[in-house]
Amino acid sequence: MDYILYEQKGAYAVLTVNREKALNALNSQVLDELGAALDGVNLDEVRCLIITGAGEKSFVAGADIGEMSTLTKAEGEAFGKKGNDVFRRIETFPIPVIAAVNGFALGGGCELAMSCDIRICSDNAVFGQPEVGLGITPGFGGTQRLARLVGAGMAKQMIYTARNIKADEACRIGLVNGVYPKEELLPAAEKMAVSIAKNAPIAVRNCKKAINDGLDASMEEALVIEEKLFGGCFETEDQRYGMAFFLDKNKEKVKEPFKNC
Ligand code: CAA
Repeated sequence: MDYILYEQKGAYAVLTVNREKALNALNSQVLDELGAALDGVNLDEVRCLIITGAGEKSFVAGADIGEMSTLTKAEGEAFGKKGNDVFRRIETFPIPVIAAVNGFALGGGCELAMSCDIRICSDNAVFGQPEVGLGITPGFGGTQRLARLVGAGMAKQMIYTARNIKADEACRIGLVNGVYPKEELLPAAEKMAVSIAKNAPIAVRNCKKAINDGLDASMEEALVIEEKLFGGCFETEDQRYGMAFFLDKNKEKVKEPFKNC
C-alpha cells in the first residue's frame, strides 16, 4: 500500500493515513487502500482500531480537490459513494474505532473522524466542512453525521458558513471528547484502546451495534435491539467468567484476560 500504514500492537491496531505531502487528502487510491486495510484487520486478535494521520500538521485535509476538479456529475456521485461506502464500513466495523485527530480535519477529514466511534484531538486540530466554498456539498456523510453529532442547528451553521473551528470549540460542541497536547494525543488514544480491549470483546461489539442500530430506530425498536444483543452475551465464556469472577469471594484472585472475539 502506498498511502496507508497499519501496525498491530497486541490487542489494538493503529491505521495511519500516510499522504503527508498532500496533508493526507483522500484521493480514490487512498480510499481504496483504506478499505483494503480494514479487510486486513485480524478481528480474532484486534479489539480496537485507532485511525490517525501522518505528520505533525494534518489528520486528513479533505477529499482530493485536484481529483475532484474535473469530475462529471455522475463521477462526482460515484466518488461520493466510494467515500460513503468505506466510511460506513468504519462506522459499522465490528470493533470500536477511535479517531486520533492530529491536525486539520477538514471536509472528508472531518467526515472520516465522524465515522469513527470516538474522537479525540490534539490542541492544534482544526475541524470544518469547507465544501460550499468550493462549490460542492459535503460528500462523505458530513451533512448527515455532523447534524447527528452536534445537532442540526450547529451543523447547518458550520456547513453553510464553511467556518473552521479549533479544538476547544470542537470539544465544547461535542464533536470531540477530549483535547490533548500534540505529543500526548496518540498515547491517550492508545491508553483508551487498551482499556477498551481489556473488556469482554463480544460485549463491547454488541454495545457498538446496539448504540448504532438503536440510533436509527424508534425507542421501541431500539430496546428490542438492545434486548437481543444483551441476550446474545449470555452463555458466552466471557459472560460466565466475568460473572463468576465477581461472585468469587476469594480476595487473592487475579482477573484473566477475556478470550472470545
Ligand atoms: N486536496 C488536495 N490537495 C490538498 C488538499 C486537498 N483537500 N489539502 C491540502 N492539499 C495539498 C495542497 O495543495 C499542497 O500541495 P502542494 O504542496 O503540492 O502545493 C499541500 O497539500 C499543502 O497544503 P497547503 O500548502 O495549502 O498548506 P497550508 O498549511 O497553507 O494550508 C490547509 C493547510 C488550510 C488545510 C489548506 O491546505 C486547505 O485549505 N486545504 C483544503 C481543505 C479543504 O477544502 N478540504 C475539503 C475538501 S472537499 C471535500 O472533502 C469534499 C467531501 O466532503 C468529500
